[in-house]
Amino acid sequence: MYLANDIVKEGCQILREKCDRVNLPLTTDDLNCIRGLYEYVIVSQIDELVEKYKIRPGVGIAAPQVGVKKRMFAINAEDFLDEKHTKYTLAVINPIITNKSKEMVYLPGGEGCLSVDRPTPELVTPRHYWIEAKCALLDFNTNKIKNVKLKLVGYPAIVFQHEYDHLDGIMYVDKMYKVKDLDESIQPLYTVEDDEDEEEA
Ligand code: NI
Repeated sequence: MYLANDIVKEGCQILREKCDRVNLPLTTDDLNCIRGLYEYVIVSQIDELVEKYKIRPGVGIAAPQVGVKKRMFAINAEDFLDEKHTKYTLAVINPIITNKSKEMVYLPGGEGCLSVDRPTPELVTPRHYWIEAKCALLDFNTNKIKNVKLKLVGYPAIVFQHEYDHLDGIMYVDKMYKVKDLDESIQPLYTVEDDEDEEEA
């Protein structure tokens, strides 16, 4: 699993590069990378392990964030606005966003990123409310790769877009606005009072 020292920080060139498509079947190096990313997003959401390994909690991490210029990322994000609270724990390879809503939303507390250590308060990043994507998913129980089409809505869609941007050298800090400067058609994903939460991705 990747640890804090493995995370590439803002300012490093690799975070600004367009990543290469992953050849399938996976090489051992690529398999180890995606497994490490997947483990990170699982382990980093378990309080005792966060303390033990001294890592930052994250809902997503992309290969360039660990110095690998390949189109893969892992997300572990719960759709907390859906009554079923579906959790999307995915090891994503070669994603392509094929369709997206016109409707734009933002996380009221703003976004965060494991590669960005500075606080970015009162700044939000507009994202499409839903997206459709095709990609390969790796199932770690069987080690099999499946080509799938996904539709993600709301929070998991935002996390997916954040990670997808990393594959093109784009970071959320490139797309931050004060709420008062946004077109009023762009709405918060949910409403809160004095929300101070930031999600790290
Ligand atoms: Ni990030």
